[in-house]
Formats: sequence, structure tokens, C-alpha cells
Amino acid sequence: MILKDELLFYNPSKFRELKRYFESVDKEVLTITEYILNEELASEQLGFDIVIDISSLYNLYSGQFQAERLIDKFDQNFTFIADIKYKEDFKNEFRFCFENFIDFEDFISNDDRDDKGNKIKKRKKPHKKIIDLEANEIVSFFEKFEDSLYGHNKFKDDFKEIVDSFRVFNKLGEHKILSLFLMGDSGVGKTEVARAIHKSLGGESKLAKVNFGNYSSDNSLNSLIGSPRGYIGSEDGELFIRVEESDTGVILIDEFEKSNSTLFNYFLDVLENGKMVSSLAHEIDLNGFIIIFTSNISKEDFPKLISPELRSRFDYKGYFSILKSIDKLKYVEFRINSIVRKFNNFYPNALDEDFKYDILIEIDVEKYKNMRDLNKRIKKIFVEKLMAKIY
Ligand SMILES: Nc1ncnc2c1ncn2[C@@H]1O[C@H](COP(=O)(O)OP(=O)(O)O)[C@@H](O)[C@H]1O
Ligand SMILES: [Mg+2]
Repeated sequence: MILKDELLFYNPSKFRELKRYFESVDKEVLTITEYILNEELASEQLGFDIVIDISSLYNLYSGQFQAERLIDKFDQNFTFIADIKYKEDFKNEFRFCFENFIDFEDFISNDDRDDKGNKIKKRKKPHKKIIDLEANEIVSFFEKFEDSLYGHNKFKDDFKEIVDSFRVFNKLGEHKILSLFLMGDSGVGKTEVARAIHKSLGGESKLAKVNFGNYSSDNSLNSLIGSPRGYIGSEDGELFIRVEESDTGVILIDEFEKSNSTLFNYFLDVLENGKMVSSLAHEIDLNGFIIIFTSNISKEDFPKLISPELRSRFDYKGYFSILKSIDKLKYVEFRINSIVRKFNNFYPNALDEDFKYDILIEIDVEKYKNMRDLNKRIKKIFVEKLMAKIY
């Protein structure tokens, strides 16, 4: 099972506020009951614009396995929420489904008011940025980064070079934002690059991520950078909220090609000026930030879909190809270790090295191009072996 990022707990008395918040970022709140009646719905829908309230699972399913199985049908783009009164139960019951369990209030609590009662955005801590690392810190940054991304050795070498150059020219005031455009097949680690940079910078918050698959409509710039008459907690739009919430100077723009020229132009400006400006004229200084744009387009389509102005703005354009078997194997080993470790946290010493080996030999990495599919396979074998062990 791929862990979903988080389950958000809300206070029912604040449900209206929650709903308005999600509406302002173009998300609709639905209940899981609809999916119980029609499970296929989960795979038919795009998760970006849907928030699912799973509270009713508390009464409906006594067995954990059924509930987990249902949640697993949704991809990682869906947002999940639940009534806070089930917090303790759900934290336990869904520990294999979600990585984090967060109160909704904390999730949006970057909002604050100044002494006139106007809402202002307050950051608790400055963003951790690559330009601020000391010489010894940058060494350990690269070590961590290279460990967390399997394969792509050419990219790793290039990345080191452009980061070194960025750190120098940023100091000289000549290079404000480092922009990377990563294209190539699905499930080979493009998004992982951004996650790895975020984590290696010591990020503890969520990575600032915006999926442009979500922003193909005409009204998209409003939801991204805010509309003057926005809703509570979101006047500045999703991009601003994400960057405010994050504790590192990294922004991920996923599925960049899905967007439209208005947004392309907005980002042209951002890269040019080194800052984001919202429709309310709020600014966030992005000096020293790394922005990663990812796209599943092919090398051939790149010049067709992305304008020459924008193309020339990216500091780095890289094509990610399918991982080599040796790297896929490393990934499989890493995943098995991590699943077994998590399992053993709940059932100490339940699973040993032999168990891991039994899973490993059932997985033929040659058959898989996409690490997501490989992951599903690992999960499936894990469950099979586990059942065989128990019964
Ligand atoms: N090269 C890699 N190194 C480490 N993990 C990877 C790699 N490629 C894929 N993964 C894992 O596989 C899943 C999908 O990868 P992702 O980066 O989201 O793919 P995409 O290239 O489509 O953005 C993630 O869970 C990620 O952790
Ligand atoms: Mg991706």
C-alpha cells in the first residue's frame, strides 16, 4: 500500500469553514459512502478536486482490512478528512493508509490577524534554502539527496553542478531562482526529485506542491494566485498557501504541460523577477528557491508544448528514462525493508530477514517500468506472504 500523505481531522462545528476552504481551492467535499456503493468510482475520478470524508467508515466497517482496501482504491491526489471524534480510533485503524494525522486547524493555521483585525500571513520560520547551507551542510545535503533517489546518475551529476553554480551566482545577485524542468516516463522519480530535495534540506512540513492537471480551466489563475474576493483562509490561492505552509525553499509544479498560457506567462514572470505576486498584491520573495517543473511529455513534444521564451527560462531541462534493473532492485529492497520495519513497529519482531527474502525472490523487476506498479506488486506479495504466515 502506498501511504497517502495525510488524514485531516475536522471539528464538525467548523465544517462550513472547512467546506469553504476546499471550495476556494476548487475542491468538492464528498462522503466515502458513495464509493462504498460504487467502488469503481474511485478509479474513474481525478483526485485533485475531491475531498473525501471517511467518518462513516467508523460505523460501517468493523474489519480494518475492508476499510483499508477501499481507501487503497483512491490515488494519492485525493484529500481525506474525518470527524475529530474518531481521531484516536482512526489513527490506529488507518496507520497503514496515511503517513500523517493532522488537525485541519493546524493544517491551515498560517493565517493570522494584525492589530486592525485584518488577516495577515505570518510565517513561523523562514524557508530553509539551498543558498543558505554552509559548506559542510551542502555536502550532507548531496549525500542525502543522492541516497534517496535511485538511478539517474547523469542527473545527479548535473544537479550538483547547477546547484554549485546557483549558490555562487545567487550571492552575486545574478541568479534568483533555480528552475528545473524534468520530463519523461511516468513513475521513474521526477516528483521524487522534489520530495528528495525538500527532505534533504531538512523539510518537516509538506512540500509546496501544485498540480497543474488541476488548473486547466480559464479561471485557473484565480485559484492559483487568488481572487480579490476570495474565501477565508485562501485569498491568495493555492500556490501561496502551499508556499506559506512549507518550511523549505522548494516548489514543485507537477504536470506543467496540462496548464494554459496564462499560467505559463505567470511563471515566466516569477522566474524573471524572483518573486510571486498574488492578485491581492501580496508578495513572496522566492530568492534562493528551487522550482521543479515536471511533465510526462516526451522529448519530441517538449518544443511543441512549451514556448521558446519559457524553454529558455529553465536553468535545466532533463529527460528521465526508465530505471536500470539494478536501481529497481535497490528500490524493491528499500520498500520491503521499510514496510517490514513499519509492521514490526506494531508487532515487534513479527517479520524477519527470511520473510523479506521470500518477498524479494517473487519480484521480477524486469517486468516493470513504472515504480508505482512495482510498488503494487510488492504490496500484493507482502500481503500474500503475510496471510500464508498467519494461517
Ligand atoms: N528513481 C527513484 N528513486 C526513488 N524512488 C522512486 C524512483 N522512481 C520512482 N520512485 C518511487 O515511485 C513512486 C512514483 O515516483 P514519482 O517520482 O512520483 O514518479 P513520476 O516520475 O511519475 O513523477 C514514488 O513513490 C517514488 O518514491
Ligand atoms: Mg509525478
